[in-house]
Amino acid sequence: MRCGYHGLRFDAAGKCVEIPGQANIPPRARVRSYPTIIKHGWVWVWPGDAERANPASIPEIFVPNDHPDWRSAGGTTYLECPYQLISDNLLDLTHENYIHRSSLGNQAVVEYPITVTGDENRVVVTRLIPDHDPAPFWKAALKAAKNLKEDVNCDRWQVIHFELPANLALEVGVAPAGTGGLRGERSRGVEAHNLNAITPETEETTWYFWTLARNFSREPKHDKAFAARVAAIFDEDKAALEAVHAVMKRNPKRSVIDINADAGTISARRIVARIVEAEQTVRMGAAE
Ligand SMILES: [Fe+2]
Repeated sequence: MRCGYHGLRFDAAGKCVEIPGQANIPPRARVRSYPTIIKHGWVWVWPGDAERANPASIPEIFVPNDHPDWRSAGGTTYLECPYQLISDNLLDLTHENYIHRSSLGNQAVVEYPITVTGDENRVVVTRLIPDHDPAPFWKAALKAAKNLKEDVNCDRWQVIHFELPANLALEVGVAPAGTGGLRGERSRGVEAHNLNAITPETEETTWYFWTLARNFSREPKHDKAFAARVAAIFDEDKAALEAVHAVMKRNPKRSVIDINADAGTISARRIVARIVEAEQTVRMGAAE
């Protein structure tokens, strides 16, 4: 790594190994280094105590990002809102019908209930949407990949996997109605995993790293178009979430009303709150 200002070069441990124009390198010329690993197609950086870095804690839900059965393309979206608003948004896809009307929106999405399962560290939200006219994004995907006619009805599945602290895989897809897609027989359909590693920058700003891994139209020439399509969809989320954050900031005392669609969000927030509290207890204990 080379400093973009005076050109000093540092090795992976943070030690300076080159200073342009001088042979002598002061031993104090160091920068902080972080445990880093490439896994599932992404670079993972551990900003905490180095000895506690554990590559096994990188979620397996991200496997499709770098797997031969899938083709992945993605991007990064910067949002001026707290990271948990993005996590909330991905755990409740009813918003697709209102915010993503021209791509993922479909009235059928809001007409079928969700089921929420999981354990003390995970949440899984499932919604199965049978026999309906597919949303524009899925209609185009089915047509391009399976050569299906425009008027074919489909079954659609949405299985959202949440893992600490804000890692989410959206296992989504459609298949022609009645061909088994809702029972897990998805060979007649098209499937994608939208993978999301939501990383807070500050309390009110967030780096949102995402990809779409697809098992259809897998030729690399389609990558750009898929990434652009998803980026445009997430820009719609960005506009909504930044507006939501601004309203919440203006009305900090306003009470929040939970609706049925929030069940996954509430479970995930409970898990995060429990872990944060446990970490703070450990830290306070260490400080005493
Ligand atoms: Fe969205």
